[in-house]
Parts: sequence; C-alpha cells; structure tokens
Amino acid sequence: MDRDAILRKYPPQSENLLALLHDLQDARELHYLTEEDLRAAADHFHLPLSFVHGVATFYTMYSLQPRGRHVIRFCQSPACHLMGGVSVGKTLQKLLGVDFGETTPDHEFTLEMSSCLGVCGVAPAMMVDDRVYGNLDEEKVASILESIRREK
Ligand code: FES
Repeated sequence: MDRDAILRKYPPQSENLLALLHDLQDARELHYLTEEDLRAAADHFHLPLSFVHGVATFYTMYSLQPRGRHVIRFCQSPACHLMGGVSVGKTLQKLLGVDFGETTPDHEFTLEMSSCLGVCGVAPAMMVDDRVYGNLDEEKVASILESIRREK
C-alpha cells in the first residue's frame, strides 16, 4: 500500500498517529520511517513536524534508520532473564554476528532488546516481526532463524 492510501485509512485525529506511523513503517521493506513519512503524517494531522518527530523517536518500536527485513525483539525483562534469556540472547548475537541494536550486513535481521512481551509463562521469549516465540533455548533460536531464512 502506498503512502497516500495509508493516509486515507486514518481520519485526521491525533489519536490515530501511532497506528499511522506503524503502517507507514511496515510499508517499507526495511521497516523504518523516512523524513517524508514524518512530514506527510504531520501535514495529515495538522501537527508540527517536530511533534511527529518527537513521537517517532520516543518509542523504540519506530526507527528512522533502515532495519532488517525481519526485526527480532528479544525480551530482556526479569522472567525471561531468569529463565535463561541471557544465554539465549548471546546465542542469537553469535548466530547473527551482530550486537543488540544492530542489523546484519545482508539486511535480513535487526536484533533489538524488548521489555516484557506479555508471554512470561513461556519465558524466555522473543518476537520476530508479528510472531511470538517462547520456551526458547539455543537450539530453538537456531532453528527459528534457519526457517525464516528458508522462507525467502
Ligand atoms: S518477561 Fe519476557 S515475556 Fe514477560
């Protein structure tokens, strides 16, 4: 869906701003917002560009830099931490060859830290794009990455 079609989905009321920014970001293969996206959102909602920029930089779910085609949000909250998350996180870093906050050189994955994903019962957990994975261990994350790579 192009930017104008996305803008048309949302009546120009500021409570729609977060959802609009989500859609604009998801419309880009590399999951980020451009300066033009922020300007279009500001014009659509009759808000100052500085306000929209402030919103987009306040929430970690938005990025103003190109990310990977898949965004991994790895939970770092206490339940996941206690259930072995530290070692699973290290395995993810090793398998991807990047640190948290970085994108693989092939732009396939961005690895991010996340606060609680709301699935503490299956800790440790992570979200890849819109899918949540729980009960993670070193083998399971390797097989998840492998199956996502095969989906290409
Ligand atoms: S602490 Fe990780 S999902 Fe809640």
